[in-house]
Amino acid sequence: MIIGIIGGGQLAKMMILAGYPMGQEFIVLDPAPDAAAGRVAKQIVGAYDDPDKLRELIALADVITFDFENVPADAIQVIAEQTRVFPGAKALATAQDRLSEKQLFKQLNIPVPAFHCVDSAADLEDAIETTGLPAVLKTRRLGYDGKGQKVLRNREDLNGAFEAIGMQAAIAEQWIEFEREVSLIAVRDQHGNIAFYPLVHNMHEHGILRISKAPYDNPELQAQAQQLVTPLLEKLDYVGVHATEFFVKEGQLIANEMAPRVHNTGHWTIEGAGVSQFENHLRAITGLPLGTTEAHSHAAMINFISELPPVEKILSIPGCHYHDYGKKPRPNRKVGHATLRASSESKLQSKIDAIMEIVDSTKSSRS
Ligand SMILES: Nc1ncnc2c1ncn2[C@@H]1O[C@H](COP(=O)(O)OP(=O)(O)O)[C@@H](O)[C@H]1O
Ligand SMILES: [Mg+2]
Repeated sequence: MIIGIIGGGQLAKMMILAGYPMGQEFIVLDPAPDAAAGRVAKQIVGAYDDPDKLRELIALADVITFDFENVPADAIQVIAEQTRVFPGAKALATAQDRLSEKQLFKQLNIPVPAFHCVDSAADLEDAIETTGLPAVLKTRRLGYDGKGQKVLRNREDLNGAFEAIGMQAAIAEQWIEFEREVSLIAVRDQHGNIAFYPLVHNMHEHGILRISKAPYDNPELQAQAQQLVTPLLEKLDYVGVHATEFFVKEGQLIANEMAPRVHNTGHWTIEGAGVSQFENHLRAITGLPLGTTEAHSHAAMINFISELPPVEKILSIPGCHYHDYGKKPRPNRKVGHATLRASSESKLQSKIDAIMEIVDSTKSSRS
């Protein structure tokens, strides 16, 4: 079976590494000649919506999937008309636009922060009537790692806020004073069977994911999250891995956003769960039975942001695994991650502290 992947970043690379043992072959489409996944599979170098390149990909692949959700909707439609593509156009189109995403959540009774559409600076006053202050202004499209966002703490912050996010169509959202952030990684197969990984506890720094810990052992929240996500996957006729990010406040979940793909908060599953999110995504899209989503033990994932710490130092910590995406270092770019396993939460935390010390000393030795 040949799988075509649109987008050739680290998510595609990890997917490919998970698929080789099952005898799968891969071809990626990415405009960057040095794309991370291009090192481990054939690559077509071209834009995601280049009709000739898409035709080439469709001709070579048995099924198509994504490592990147911001493929223009027209291109997805073209692909969907000609071949099997998972997840489908509906899920991608919804996840690309924060407004349609929040509207769908609301329609399905999934709690969300109060929100209001902002098409121009003049809409901001009306928007904060709905959201209150503080609020956060976010571009509807193409935001990631906290980019395209502006926090509005008081009325003065409204001045220049729309300009600060590039005068693009946006939404304003109520600011949630959350107790923690969690995510639910789910996988749905072509018959409608759904498997859920245990909830993941996520910590962000400046809008970028820094650390994920799993399992976040809270049966009540686990049940609540699964109940909220099941109708969402069904409504979208979803096939593959799907991630939903939630805020936790007073024992309740409030949905922040979803990703129609394998997710950074699921990287710990490579070493930390029975079957990884990458393998389960491939099993789902190729019609194979789903594998167990159980966690082996306590696990954590630490992102390497901007630069990689020395591999020999990280691997001197027992139970630690090192992932280098093969990407050029650049400020605020995710260039790799570590996964840790430990038999108890307290042992896990001391290993996380040891890794963060190495990460911080790498930073200070370069500055
Ligand atoms: N309404 C909000 N209230 C509180 N914190 C928020 C809110 N929206 C975003 N954040 C913080 O910013 C982070 C990134 O925002 P998010 O909407 O997930 O964008 P991205 O697509 O960049 O991940 C969140 O994980 C959270 O820590
Ligand atoms: Mg997010």
